[in-house]
Amino acid sequence: MGEHAEQSGDWQAAGPEEIASAVAILTAGGVVAFPTETVYGLGADALNPAAVARVFALKGRPAANPLIVHVSGEAMARRVTSAWPEAAALLARAFWPGPLTLVLPKAARVPDAVTAGGPTVGVRCPDHHVTLALLEAFGGPLVGPSANPSGRVSPTTAAHVREGFGDSVFVLEGGPCRAGIESTVVSLVDERPRILRPGVISAAQLSTALGRTVEVAAAGSVADAGPAPSPGMQAIHYAPAAPAVVFDRSEFDRVLRTQARVAVLAHSPLTVAQPHALIRMPATAPEYAARLYAALREADSLSPSLIAVERPPTGDPVWDAIADRLRRATRPFAGG
Ligand code: TXA
Ligand code: MG
Repeated sequence: MGEHAEQSGDWQAAGPEEIASAVAILTAGGVVAFPTETVYGLGADALNPAAVARVFALKGRPAANPLIVHVSGEAMARRVTSAWPEAAALLARAFWPGPLTLVLPKAARVPDAVTAGGPTVGVRCPDHHVTLALLEAFGGPLVGPSANPSGRVSPTTAAHVREGFGDSVFVLEGGPCRAGIESTVVSLVDERPRILRPGVISAAQLSTALGRTVEVAAAGSVADAGPAPSPGMQAIHYAPAAPAVVFDRSEFDRVLRTQARVAVLAHSPLTVAQPHALIRMPATAPEYAARLYAALREADSLSPSLIAVERPPTGDPVWDAIADRLRRATRPFAGG
């Protein structure tokens, strides 16, 4: 292992040998899973249509849902975009490497499959040393949807990626993801910058960096208005296998009474009795976000009749991004 090798619990970050193996696979048009600070991505050469097609096939992803292109920085981003407005330069300088995807007009060299035939491309520079080293060594942009079968919970560890794809995908180890929910997606295509998918980077932070107001597309409004600018905005997404609901504390007793075996995710000090199970969640938003997808997987592994998630607090951008992901993973509690 190289100088970047890290030891923490039961994982060790991929070093130069694994990165060289990954580059060989990518160069041959294959697929490699890579770590980022948000979730693991399913990587392939963004400029090779056959490689991109493999990613869609592996994930079972609808062709209408465009892929994010991962880059090592502004110079590589400018190779896949046909415009680089001042707003892009400001946001890239303020937040890259980091959990922010910029939607911009695409360059002609980007295959149509990447952008679902659309005129725009999402680009982001991830903040993880393994994947930055991979991008440097490969020397070109990589598509990177979350490394989960389409519609399932995103992976925040290498083991989660293997749960979804077995040994069919080479996984670069990078440890548990620090942020834990997917990047903020902001469109810079129209006059007014607009958040298409909330994440840990907030509208207020983007507004400060740009010196102008950044709007947030209302939940549901984008998906309801014809072809979705960001299919991540669609209603059911990121879902566990068991049915899942979000509940208010006033509904708690009723949730437990109406179900055979509930896996409860709670951030306040609730207690549950057998046969129900409790997964205690952090009470602060960044820690909660980092834990969410692993907790949903743990809940699923208990084979419950229902996963019930205590409604998160409101009024903070990270809690709002968490609420967004929970809305996509659950249905409203209808009383049983
Ligand atoms: O944090 C992340 O963004 C992770 C890591 C791996 O980088 N990737 C990720 O990719 O979440 P994916 O494919 O699971 O989600 C990408 C989201 C989808 O909601 C997609 O519809 C949207 O970004 N998107 C991609 N390209 C777009 C475009 N040109 N215009 C609008 N939305 C776009
Ligand atoms: Mg995804």
